[in-house]
Amino acid sequence: MERIIITGGVPLQGEVCVSGSKNAALAIMAGAVLASEPVILHKLPLITDIYTMMAMLRRLGTVVEFIDPRSMLIDASRISHLEAPHNLVTRMRASFSVTGPLVARFGFAKVPLPGGCDIGARPVDFHIKGLRLLGARVEMDGDFVTAEAGRLKGNTIYLDYPSAGATQHLMTAAVLAEGTTVIENAAEEPEVVDLANFLITLGARIEGHGTRRITIEGVSRLRGGEYTIIPDRLEAGTYAVAAAMTRGKVRIVNANPEHMTPVLRKLQEAGVQIETDEAGVQIHLQTRPKAVNIKTMPHPGFPTDMQQPMTALLCVADGVSIVTETVYERRFRYVQELRKMGADIEQENRTAVVRGVEKLYGATVEATDLRAGAALVIAGLGAEGETTIEEIHHIDRGYEDLVAKLQSLGAQILRQSDKPVAVSVEEVPVCSA
Ligand code: EPZ
Repeated sequence: MERIIITGGVPLQGEVCVSGSKNAALAIMAGAVLASEPVILHKLPLITDIYTMMAMLRRLGTVVEFIDPRSMLIDASRISHLEAPHNLVTRMRASFSVTGPLVARFGFAKVPLPGGCDIGARPVDFHIKGLRLLGARVEMDGDFVTAEAGRLKGNTIYLDYPSAGATQHLMTAAVLAEGTTVIENAAEEPEVVDLANFLITLGARIEGHGTRRITIEGVSRLRGGEYTIIPDRLEAGTYAVAAAMTRGKVRIVNANPEHMTPVLRKLQEAGVQIETDEAGVQIHLQTRPKAVNIKTMPHPGFPTDMQQPMTALLCVADGVSIVTETVYERRFRYVQELRKMGADIEQENRTAVVRGVEKLYGATVEATDLRAGAALVIAGLGAEGETTIEEIHHIDRGYEDLVAKLQSLGAQILRQSDKPVAVSVEEVPVCSA
């Protein structure tokens, strides 16, 4: 069992480098299955979800290996297996997105249904509806989905909700379909745009990515290519909130400020001084943050993945904040953990009323999902005394070297294991990648 131990109260100072985007990299790795020649990806984040997706692709017969510390070769030219393993898909929802590329390129895919998780039921009905509209015969047998088709045929797909994953998944299915596909009410997340730009590098014909209407002209095959993943706006946002929580001054390098607008605007509303340039964002707060109201929405609204980290900051804000979670039905479980640290939060259904207190106090708490873990780290950094965070495997799914990066900013934080762990000999700084 591993845990993170933090002694709070130290203002974070200095510079931190953001890794590549988890939610772009996972979709792009699944999309690489479409390519008949090798693909090279740069600036991959070294996180467990990436290793899970590597295992998934290898099980399909794809050659996947790191050729540099954060550059990966994916060669799907000789895929030999069209069935995804149950344990990997249920471990990570994003691996379900190999279904579309497999059925688009090989006419068949058998993939387990991803389970729900701590934040919600997370069905894939939009994905299945879209694949059927593209001409795939999709059957459910037990907890497996089987999709079969001759060549997929372009169609118009209206998404009931601008689902990021469904938009990414159906875009990868449509790029090899015959004719034109239009995805209406599409997601506009930067990670959707990054996948489209990657596919275009391989010869796909896509327009409208980044808007609610994406048009795809099918092509017969996709060539290989080389692509660099965008920075992770959620990791960057997490460090921005951590800097504000500790009333520090931090420069976040490699971040793309344009992808962070909703979070930066809300931090400014809370009184945080923000300076941006093309290479990053500087965060500075010397006073107590002001209370602000947050309502999560599809991009360009406030991202649901930053709801939990931001709420940790609002726990010590001057005033009452209302946090409304419109995307997931169960994304407040971490609130009970914050209460153990002295937070004054009343939550009912999708709304939390956060009454700011002067300070939080260290406690032993449990991460219930990836962003909940980030919220507890932020709370611990600002709390008086020592905080121990259990179940930190959730955090490792989406944050590369979180403890080391926070230590480099002066945080008193360490990772403790019940058993000896191998210390990585080669520490390759992210910024040099
Ligand atoms: C992606 O998940 C991200 N994950 C999530 O980030 C993020 O919270 C989410 O988009 C929203 O931005 C990855 O990219 C790997 P959705 P995804 O489809 O695609 C409902 C993190 O912390 N829905 O946009 O699964 C769904 O239940 C993770 O990095 C259906 O009803 O999210 C949810 O209520 C957590 N049917 C809403 O849509 C479907 O077929 C938004 O989900 C699909 C989704």
